[in-house]
Amino acid sequence: MSALPGAPQLARRAAGLCLEAVPLEALARVHGTPLYVYSRGAMLQALAAYQQPLADRRHLICYAMKANSTLAVLQLFARAGCGFDIVSAGELERVLAAGGDPAKTVFSGVGKQRAEMRRALEVGVKCFNVESESELRTLSAVATEMGRSAPVSLRINPDVDARTHPYISTGLKDNKFGIAHGHALQAYREAAGLPGLEVVGIDCHIGSQITEIGPYLDALDRLLDLVEALEVEGIAIRHLDVGGGLGITYTDEQPPAAGDLVARLLERIDARGHGARELLFEPGRSLVGNAGVLLTQVLVCKTGADKNFCIVDAAMNDLVRPAMYGAYMAIVPCGAQSSAPARLWDVVGPVCESGDWLGRARELAVQEGDVLAVLSAGAYAMSMASNYNSRPRAAEVLVDGSEAVVIRERETTMALFAHERLLPG
Ligand code: LLP
Repeated sequence: MSALPGAPQLARRAAGLCLEAVPLEALARVHGTPLYVYSRGAMLQALAAYQQPLADRRHLICYAMKANSTLAVLQLFARAGCGFDIVSAGELERVLAAGGDPAKTVFSGVGKQRAEMRRALEVGVKCFNVESESELRTLSAVATEMGRSAPVSLRINPDVDARTHPYISTGLKDNKFGIAHGHALQAYREAAGLPGLEVVGIDCHIGSQITEIGPYLDALDRLLDLVEALEVEGIAIRHLDVGGGLGITYTDEQPPAAGDLVARLLERIDARGHGARELLFEPGRSLVGNAGVLLTQVLVCKTGADKNFCIVDAAMNDLVRPAMYGAYMAIVPCGAQSSAPARLWDVVGPVCESGDWLGRARELAVQEGDVLAVLSAGAYAMSMASNYNSRPRAAEVLVDGSEAVVIRERETTMALFAHERLLPG
């Protein structure tokens, strides 16, 4: 295992651990901890890996913003030409607030509400990725009421095993997502006949943190079989959306490079004669995951006969992936050098739950007051943060070369209960 797995802009220098040219320990001292820090360069580099092989194709990268929906991050991707994959009206408002283009936005999700559909139609999203026949009927009714036509793609559940964590595997027939492959033709026929709908595409998303190309090719083949069958029936499919899900290196995983994945998909698409269609991708984690770190300060070092606990000021409310999925995320010291002896530590937060851990049995030379970095924390980290234990959410900083700008101020304690009301009398 390399000391700094997967993080392209992270390096150990004389000033300690740096993201781009910014020393992280100093940044933590200035802005406080817990602190999320992202590299602009790493995000754009990850995006370029998708864009390069697609340069001469009609394509759209719809950043799956659930991975990290902070406005400045969205703004960066919007400026770089991205569209967005959204799953709620809240995410749609974030796209608009960040200057993103609704016409480049696809609306996914198994449970869209009528008000959300209305708002998406009002601003003109590119497409609704519809997940059930019931949703088709509701959307048809909502669009008709508004005198609009809703562009739709059906999310196909191809029954392909993405071989990832069960909570983030979405393309198996037992998962709640999408329309069963065997049922799709019938659903498309219904869509084509309903008023207020216009069939424009087909999509799938088979899971997250996928580390092999095979499942993508299998899912693509199933989509293309359907496209061919649909066109025989006179239902035209303008775009193919192959979803997101590409994994990143947290420790020793070796996912394919985005460029290789895209190249292999294009090869298959061309071989089957579908090269002229617009191609959509919905990457989340692979664009931002390894661009970010979570900085945290050591509060208490508690040594014991059986276990040593390193209690830090970040907790499961700041970063839930270890507690929720048993996820491994690397933890490294930020300082230039520590005089403390190396020991095995369980790195845990101050939240009152035994499940509140960030890393287990990690060999670290740490002492109280040190700053640690949790790596690969750009995706599904801040966007999943909560206020459990009435803990304000962390601040966020974006670095670009030697510049660092605050993109989210630390939440205030007052803001936590600003919308609560005491009982009258
Ligand atoms: N498209 C759809 C329809 C999705 O549901 C997702 C993720 C994506 C795209 C983006 O997938 P990505 O490229 O980021 O793998 N919280 C979990 C991951 C949940 C993923 C949910 N859907 C985690 O921390 O591992």
